[in-house]
Amino acid sequence: MSYNLLKGKQGIIFGALDAHSIAWKTAERVYEEGGRFVLTNAPIAMRMGKINELASTTNSEIVPADATSVEELENLVEKSMEILGGKLDFVLHSIGMSINVRKGKHYTDQNYSWTHKGWDVSAGSFHKTMQVLYKKDAMNEWGSIVALTYMASQRVFPDYNDMADNKAYLESIARSFGYFFGKDKKVRVNTISQSPTPTTAGKGVKGFEGFIAYAEKMSPLGNATALDCANYTVAMFSDLTKRVTLQNLYNDGGFSNMGVSNDIMEAFVNK
Ligand SMILES: NC(=O)c1ccc[n+]([C@@H]2O[C@H](COP(=O)([O-])OP(=O)(O)OC[C@H]3O[C@@H](n4cnc5c(N)ncnc54)[C@H](O)[C@@H]3O)[C@@H](O)[C@H]2O)c1
Repeated sequence: MSYNLLKGKQGIIFGALDAHSIAWKTAERVYEEGGRFVLTNAPIAMRMGKINELASTTNSEIVPADATSVEELENLVEKSMEILGGKLDFVLHSIGMSINVRKGKHYTDQNYSWTHKGWDVSAGSFHKTMQVLYKKDAMNEWGSIVALTYMASQRVFPDYNDMADNKAYLESIARSFGYFFGKDKKVRVNTISQSPTPTTAGKGVKGFEGFIAYAEKMSPLGNATALDCANYTVAMFSDLTKRVTLQNLYNDGGFSNMGVSNDIMEAFVNK
């Protein structure tokens, strides 16, 4: 179903790796709502992933960029404005990676060069992206910037490892940079805190099957899917949310305000 919510709007979508990616679903929904965009991902991910398929179905161009490199981000923003013929109305940051998680290194036994790399990819890249957009004055007034985050930034999920710290940092960057973007450019900046979702990044977390099932049983509306997240992001890019900024917005079926649910209790009663 399309409401033409993004007709006449244009932007950049980071992080579509394959059809499971939240960014992939978001690109499809933004396209259905009339938005135009440039797709981007790290050069290595472009070789492994299927982004070309998405580019052809959404009639979009691809500009590779490692989001930890300011030079590559500058090139991305310049090229995107050339391709789209003007400034941007929306940007989705949908990037996350921890080498400690990937290599099974415990939180109490970090390899700090991996910790630093994971921070740069997952959190630092958001500051770098916004700084490039800000300095190049690349956003139109009433534009919208969204990054994706997870609840482990605020509550303990032991196996989320150093990604929990990266997400806390990411959410803080959204508020801190969002102030300047709001004041100086009338642009809003928010994070969407999404339910566990079966993507390449999600499934890489140890015990993922356990905590996606647990979250499903805890949430009165069940887990939000990648498509639900895409729809929320469309709303955040549209003119219907013009003065929502500096927020961490939960898209989690109610999980974040739960103490315990009857479904979870049943697993422990009379056992
Ligand atoms: N899957 C979940 O359970 C879940 C829950 C909440 C939030 N999130 C967040 O959603 C976002 C998208 O993740 P996803 O679940 O769709 O997984 P995904 O694996 O499909 O997407 C992660 C993307 O990050 C990109 N990336 C990694 N390093 C990069 C770099 N240096 N430069 C540019 N791009 C780089 C990858 O290529 C990939 O496209 C992430 O921020 C993730 O933390 C995911």
